[in-house]
Amino acid sequence: MISVPRSSAWRLALCLLILNPPAFGQAAPPAAAKTATAPKPSASFDAALTIRADQPGAKIDPRVYGSFAEHLGRGIYEGIWVGEGSPIPNTRGMRNDVIAALRKLQLPLLRWPGGCFADEYHWRDGIGPRNRRPRRANTWWGGPETNAFGLHEFMDFAELIGTEPYVSINVGSGSPREMAEWLEYMTSDSDSELAQLRRKNGRQKPWKVKLIGIGNENWGCGGNMRAEFYADTYKQFATFVKKYSDTAFERIASGPSDEQYAWTSVLMAQATKFMDGLSLHYYTLPTGNWDHKGSATHFGEPEWHATMMRTLRMGTFLNKHSAIMDKYDPQKHVALVVDEWGTWYDTEPGASPLYQQNTLRDALVAAINLNLFNQHSDRVRAAASAQAINVLQALILTKGPQMVLTPTYHVYDLYRVHRDALSLPVELQAPRYVLGQGSVPTLHASASRDARGVVHVSIANLDPNRSAQLKLKLTGAPSRKVSGRTLTASNMTALNDFGAAPAVTPASFESFRIEGEQVLLTLPSKSVTVVSIE
Ligand code: AHR
Repeated sequence: MISVPRSSAWRLALCLLILNPPAFGQAAPPAAAKTATAPKPSASFDAALTIRADQPGAKIDPRVYGSFAEHLGRGIYEGIWVGEGSPIPNTRGMRNDVIAALRKLQLPLLRWPGGCFADEYHWRDGIGPRNRRPRRANTWWGGPETNAFGLHEFMDFAELIGTEPYVSINVGSGSPREMAEWLEYMTSDSDSELAQLRRKNGRQKPWKVKLIGIGNENWGCGGNMRAEFYADTYKQFATFVKKYSDTAFERIASGPSDEQYAWTSVLMAQATKFMDGLSLHYYTLPTGNWDHKGSATHFGEPEWHATMMRTLRMGTFLNKHSAIMDKYDPQKHVALVVDEWGTWYDTEPGASPLYQQNTLRDALVAAINLNLFNQHSDRVRAAASAQAINVLQALILTKGPQMVLTPTYHVYDLYRVHRDALSLPVELQAPRYVLGQGSVPTLHASASRDARGVVHVSIANLDPNRSAQLKLKLTGAPSRKVSGRTLTASNMTALNDFGAAPAVTPASFESFRIEGEQVLLTLPSKSVTVVSIE
């Protein structure tokens, strides 16, 4: 139970902060202001959140809660595939613990086989008897590619976990013919040679595949193409995406990264009518420097704050790329598909490529990005975190027979309530969290209303030192019953480690009180909370 301060001094202070937030890039206060005479920061701050339950927006597509599995490091091999003879319990070679965890999460979408790897992957390498598949070098990420995990294994895995497959097609070193044959092999129920080959390789019925990515980062690892060249290439490939079943493919063009607005403009100007989606990639690096990205686990408040500031840039990218898309596609037929997002830290010496631990900080990053996708549900209709297992901001980490669920996994679990619900506008009035020259909002939220009329609100408290006393007001719906879960820990570096009791797991959220039209909540510092209001 909480009590919310109501003094007019508090209101005045809050208004001043809202009307005049310290700007990002503003000069640091003079040293004198930081002496012992400066007021001690309060252990909590006050905020207000209004949710317009009577003004629902677009449906939140469950596909925005997807993830990505690339042939990279231990993402596929060890993370999913251990082989049928492994002492690690498995189903047809795929580890049972990972299957169970992703199935429980009801992961809606899994992108495969890359990433950069996709533009050098030739699908025929991964079909047929495993002992006859070619062994190749994984030239992007190192190590041998045995092709033990190929198309049939991926599709089997997708069915075992109950997810929709999202297949990335090789454009950079492939051909329209190779693509067309792959699509036919996967989805034709005819007696064509390719459909018969699939049957011979053990799969009678075609798979259901709708989403296909036509290339990946073709401005970079996918061929270093100019936007105009890729637009033409994309149209060529897209023309040969034919229909082999009742379901048409949804064609996703390889889109921009970060602020590559020119790429979006060119693609939308030249290829909109060939597209069902345009991808966007954005990685959060605490330092913003690819040579020294920062540690996944050893960091202090400056790195915490910088990470929040950098991940919030996703909001700017969504706004700006969406605005360009609106110009060419005002009816919003083309989805913005954020099929790579997440934190990217320095890989620790000795770890497998792009392996990083995952702390409470990553949970906050996940919450902010998922809030942004919820808020942009009219345009962002699919997304994939990078990546699902043992790579970058993973949902799951494995070590031999052991497995841990990361804080990011738990955020995905908490946010499941938003899937298929209608996005609701949120208005937040909260002070800024200022550190040095940087400033971010203390709170970040999204809300939705499901088919039963239940309103779900997810709120991240970015401030690692202060809890929030939040007045939540729902317009257009009375608040009678509230329940929730929260994810926090005593340290910002808390993580779930192998062989130790998990330090970051969701707990029931009880710190609220219904008062008339409002719900008063106390949100712990550095936390992610999801409440459901009926
Ligand atoms: O997710 C790791 C890599 O990041 C992907 O292969 C590539 O698409 C991106 O640059």
